[in-house]
Amino acid sequence: MAKPPVAPQDFVAAMGLAATGVSVVTTDGPSGRFGLTVSAVSSVSAEPPLVLICVNRKSPAVAALDGNGTFAVNLLGADNRAYAENFSGRPREGKPFDFGNHAWREGETGLPLVDDATAIFECETHDSLDAGTHRIYIGRVIAAHKGEAEPLVYCNRAFRRIVNHEGN
Ligand SMILES: Cc1cc2nc3c(=O)[nH]c(=O)nc-3n(C[C@H](O)[C@H](O)[C@H](O)COP(=O)(O)O)c2cc1C
Repeated sequence: MAKPPVAPQDFVAAMGLAATGVSVVTTDGPSGRFGLTVSAVSSVSAEPPLVLICVNRKSPAVAALDGNGTFAVNLLGADNRAYAENFSGRPREGKPFDFGNHAWREGETGLPLVDDATAIFECETHDSLDAGTHRIYIGRVIAAHKGEAEPLVYCNRAFRRIVNHEGN
């Protein structure tokens, strides 16, 4: 018989110790412009180039992602914390989720891209599937951009910067 799953709060407490990058996923098109801060981002495959993101189905981003069929994963730099705060609904200034709070440039796909991100992947939705409370979007990468910024990191409910080990 299958064992019962761990209690959600114990799962969240342990998973909160995972150090992750922080991305803002942006989408634009007939279903509207939307941005959302996510840590659930992974490379899937290089040939063909695929990435995945996991988005809570309660988020209004889901309707926009489903309708537009296109999204950009903006891996934030250490100095891009304001984007992460705004697109998780907690800006220090301005209205939450407002694109007017920041600088953007237009990507090859027409999507809004974070001006000075660490890296950016412009995608067309290849597939999506539901798992638990979230929808997993797999994106076919149309354009990949390398920036200069050191990445922003999130761990144990705090934004952090990378520090090299001594001697490395
Ligand atoms: C660092 C960080 C990482 C997050 N990662 C995800 C994620 O991977 N997927 C997701 O759906 N929401 C993620 N969120 C939550 C959303 O950005 C956003 O906070 C939420 O949709 C807003 O809902 P609220 O009304 O509960 O504040 C993350 C938030 C933060 C601050």
